[in-house]
Amino acid sequence: MKTLRYGIVGGGFVSAFHLRALRQVRHVEVAGLFSRTRPEHLARRVRDEGLGEGVIYNSIREMIPHVDVVAIFAPNFARVAHVEELCDAVRSGVPLRGVICEKPLARNLAEARRMVELVESVGLPHVFFENQLHMNSVQAGLRQLRPVIEAMGPPVLTRSGEEHAGPHSGWFWDPVRQGGGVMSDMGCHCLAVGWYALTPPNKPVDFLEPVSISADLSLLKWGQPNWRQQLLKTHGVDYAKTPAEDFATGVTTFRNPETGQLVKSQFTVSWMFDKIGLRLGLDGIGPGYAFDMNTLRSPLEVFIGDAAASGAANTELALEKSQASRGLLTVQPNEPDVLGYTDENEDAVQAFLAGRRAMLDWNYGLKIVRLTMAAYLSSERRAVVDLTDQATNQFLETYVPKIQQGHGAEVLGEVR
Ligand SMILES: NC(=O)c1ccc[n+]([C@@H]2O[C@H](COP(=O)([O-])OP(=O)(O)OC[C@H]3O[C@@H](n4cnc5c(N)ncnc54)[C@H](O)[C@@H]3O)[C@@H](O)[C@H]2O)c1
Repeated sequence: MKTLRYGIVGGGFVSAFHLRALRQVRHVEVAGLFSRTRPEHLARRVRDEGLGEGVIYNSIREMIPHVDVVAIFAPNFARVAHVEELCDAVRSGVPLRGVICEKPLARNLAEARRMVELVESVGLPHVFFENQLHMNSVQAGLRQLRPVIEAMGPPVLTRSGEEHAGPHSGWFWDPVRQGGGVMSDMGCHCLAVGWYALTPPNKPVDFLEPVSISADLSLLKWGQPNWRQQLLKTHGVDYAKTPAEDFATGVTTFRNPETGQLVKSQFTVSWMFDKIGLRLGLDGIGPGYAFDMNTLRSPLEVFIGDAAASGAANTELALEKSQASRGLLTVQPNEPDVLGYTDENEDAVQAFLAGRRAMLDWNYGLKIVRLTMAAYLSSERRAVVDLTDQATNQFLETYVPKIQQGHGAEVLGEVR
């Protein structure tokens, strides 16, 4: 079988994580890299690990003739410009087999629509990366329960959560560049996986129709003076001027179009989880059965006592967003696999090579952006947002949340 050549855009955290995943994926190589600052460390890693040539290019335009697929792993604020650049190249006749985009597809619905229109205008196949749907624990849980679900009926309630102590780069904290706070950054994962786990077997990922959403967004930790100062010092973002939410929770209601049954998905996300490291959780309940996943459970724990702490290694080797280097630590020996990165790449590579659709495309990514926008609107209006109402849907098309506009103080309360 032929090998698919990736050209990766963005040389930061997620690109490095994908490289760890790609070591476990067949028929793919990393042929090109482009980032704002030359990604020398990634290129070295690509070559050292035998993942491909890892040639650094000065632009997407320059890279495209040397790759089959462009993987957009750069920050959210650069999405539209990147897609415009690559679609211009395709329009001018440079062949490309497809494009991948990391979550979230865009900061708001207008940007998401623009991205989908651009790739579809040049007939470019598109894959959306939402790793949580590909997690082995999610897939294995639903597979194991399938006969039970078929006999008893699909789940009626899911609860999903993603929490850590805060992002690693300044732009994530800046609501204008990122698109908001934790709701935009991590709420999108939970909206997606909660919806997916409620979906009856053999139905498309968007089979259940979103009916309504209610959300509550707040700034609980990072608006406090000492934490605000730390944020300003470390990442140059001032939450006294442009605050974003560090906690969000809510409920989405879905309707089964065949049976009319209403089911619910509850989500909780935060940037103030001062515990071991990244925690992803999903639990679900159906008639007579249940499932429960928590990524902080691992077969491996290590203990580093105070006497030995001077020898503690880089803590992020143990777990994404690790918060401690001593005591009892959870270690995920193969975190890219646990978090679904391996399987989402495998799915994309196989789909591009076979010329078939991958599990998720940008139209799906756009639907998640729509739900995210509805969550912001609900919190702004302090009301349930009716997703079946035509006027509301029209409004969402051009809606930019106050927090994303940089006016978060109007909805989160003044930060002193
Ligand atoms: N699936 C997940 O769980 C997950 C986890 C982390 C990040 N992400 C997503 O991946 C994307 C990147 O996040 P990250 O954590 O790697 O960010 P990062 O800040 O660690 O890295 C961003 C990289 O992009 C480069 N860059 C900045 N502006 C650019 C531009 N205009 N053109 C090209 N390169 C540019 C930077 O130099 C840096 O190398 C984001 O959209 C984020 O939401 C997803």
